[in-house]
Formats: sequence, C-alpha cells, structure tokens
Amino acid sequence: MRQEARTINAQEIKKDFPLLQRKFYDKQLVYLDSASTTQKPSVVIESLKEFYEKYNANVHRGIYKLSEEATQLYESAREKIAKFVGARPEELIFAKSCTEAINLLAYSLELKEGDEILISEMEHHSNFVPWQQIAKEKKAKLRFVKVDEEGKLDLESLKAQLNEKTKIVSITHVSNVLGTINPIKEIADIVHKNSSAVFIVDAAQSVGHMKINVKDLDADFLAFSGHKMLGPVGIGCLYGKAELLQKMKPFLYGGDMIKEVTFEKTEFNDLPWKFEAGTQPIAEAIALAKAIEYLEQIEMDTVEEHDRILTQYALEKLRELGAKIYGPNERAPVISFNLEGIHSHDIATILDGEAIAVRGGHHCCMPLMSVLGISGAARVSFYIYNTKEDVDALIEGIKKVKKVFE
Ligand code: ALA
Repeated sequence: MRQEARTINAQEIKKDFPLLQRKFYDKQLVYLDSASTTQKPSVVIESLKEFYEKYNANVHRGIYKLSEEATQLYESAREKIAKFVGARPEELIFAKSCTEAINLLAYSLELKEGDEILISEMEHHSNFVPWQQIAKEKKAKLRFVKVDEEGKLDLESLKAQLNEKTKIVSITHVSNVLGTINPIKEIADIVHKNSSAVFIVDAAQSVGHMKINVKDLDADFLAFSGHKMLGPVGIGCLYGKAELLQKMKPFLYGGDMIKEVTFEKTEFNDLPWKFEAGTQPIAEAIALAKAIEYLEQIEMDTVEEHDRILTQYALEKLRELGAKIYGPNERAPVISFNLEGIHSHDIATILDGEAIAVRGGHHCCMPLMSVLGISGAARVSFYIYNTKEDVDALIEGIKKVKKVFE
C-alpha cells in the first residue's frame, strides 16, 4: 500500500528563497521555469558565501590546516551527494554540468567505426548533440528510440534497435518537454538482456524531484546537474560503475588527476579524481550538498507528491482553457502546451507582463519538436516553492493572453 506522503507548505518554503520575493512591474514574481533552473534557498547562498569567507583554499594540495578543511568539506560533500543517489563516493565524479558529464562519456567511452549509439527522440540537446558529433567523428551510427502518440518511449522500438553493435544507450529519465517519466529500471533490463551496451541515464530533470537509487535503477552511468535541484550553477555530477570508470581514459588532463608525472609519461590518479582535472568547483560542490540537506529535510517522497498534486491541478485548469498539451497525464512537473493561433513566445511575453516566468520555444529539444510537428511550445514547470495560487495566477494570465488574440 502506498504510504501517505507529508504535504508541503509551499507558501512557507517560498520564504526561504530570497529571489522569489522579487517583484516585476510591481507584481509579485511567479516563477514557473524550474525545469530550466531552480531558485536557491538561503542556506545554499549562505554556503557559497561562507566558503569564500572562511574556507577558500585549493583542495588535495595544501599542507596547511585551511586546505585540509577545504578538502574535508569538498570530500564530505561528495559523500553526501553520492549517498543521496545510492552511490559510493569513488563512483561520483564532479563536473561543471550535466552536459559536461555527458560529453565526458562521449569522449571517454571510446567508440569505433561501425559501433551504434542508441538515444531517443525525446532527448534534449545535451544528450543528443554530443552523441551526434562523436558518431560523426568515429563513423559510428546514431539511432533513435521512437516516442509514441502519448509521449512515452516505445519500448518495442528500443528492443528492436538493440544488437551486437550497440555500444551505448543513453536515455533521459524525465523529458524536459513532455514530463514523461521513463521506466528506467525496465529499460536497463531490456538493454542489458539484449546487448552488451552501457546504459546511461540523463537524470537532469529527475534527481531533484524523486528518490533515485542508481543501484536499483541498474544504470551504468547517471548524469545530473546541481542547478536544477536548488544547487548553484557550475556543478554537475556523474555516477559511474567503478569497474567501468576504471577502464575509461580520462576526459581532461592536468592537475589533480595525476599520481605521478615524468618527462616520459603520466600515471593517472585513482577514482574519482582521475576524472577531475584542474581546480574543481569546490564551493559549488559544498553548496550542492547543502541543497541536498534541504531537500532531505522535506523528504523526496513529499517533493514528488507535491509535484504531482500541482501538476494535476495545472493540467486540469489548462485543459479547461482549451490548451493543447503534449505528453502523458501521469508525469513529472513539466507541462508544455500551445494555444491555437498564438506563438509560444507571445504567450511567454504576455505572461512576463504579469510577472509570470515561463519558457517558450523549443526547450533545447529541436528534434523532438519536429516529431511533435511544432516549432515550439510554452512550458511551465514547478518545484517545492510553487503553490496552487501560482497556478491560478498562470491561468488568469493565460486568459489575458487569449483576450489579446481574440
Ligand atoms: N534543458 C533545460 C530546459 O529544459 C535547459 O530548460
């Protein structure tokens, strides 16, 4: 039986987010673009400030107390973040973004001519362009799992395209356009049973919204970004199974990723530092751990339930207004829609006049737009600080949009 999740008092949570107190055109900001980036609670902002005021030193280098403290904070942050996704610290690599983490994989997994890469039609550019480019360079073949009418992945199409040449399968957990929550465990099972490919999960839109355990999901790699889960920009994470990471070549070369360097050769560092060349985003990693502590206090089941309630409420209200909605009914807190005869940029611009921030356009998903047969859509996305009143404000704003175009 499903356990009742606690409910969120989003009105109270909003108070923890200084930016959400802002007004535009004398109206209170209603922020509905968290799929793009989330706002940051004071604890995260304070953490950045505290690091530079008290702990700023390079990590793993200084033979002095300050550097030891910075190193300890940095590595504790890694432990915290790794635990949050069910990984061991040595399997959690810091990058500058989810995009960089996926680029790391595209480079370090070393494809060869004739290999096949399988992604899906719903991938955003970060999990699309790196594969397209590396396929071109290596003369590998890029294939696509189809998206069905409802906006779900066609698992038959996945199965049909797996073969002995498939070396990489990289699929998003949650679509940033359709809100579809892909059945990752089932997909991992299909991939592992029908090929020897490594299975990569792009979890940019899921880690901050639901409980994730990389071992339960049986992902070989899982990439996510900090800024979409209350953390600062400039920090992304890559989980990878240790035995796979050990076999891979480093992505970037330089300081900290080495054990010993001579004029002739370099011995690379152990995991995870083998993949962390140069000075890392230290303050950002520590602040991301603070963001996770904040989410843990709320509890991820509660976050998920809040997302669900608000999304279902918004879907119902948007349908009443005749909006064309893309994607399945059961979904993550992302809703892309169009209003007949009105360009999505016009929707976003008029809503901006009401201090309602939504995204309009292709959402870094141009190939998916072509599958849907549209050039763009307006998109709203919610998080823990959004209330039903925010949705009501959106609906009133959309009524105004419609009036302008009557
Ligand atoms: N992929 C991000 C979004 O959906 C940028 O807005």
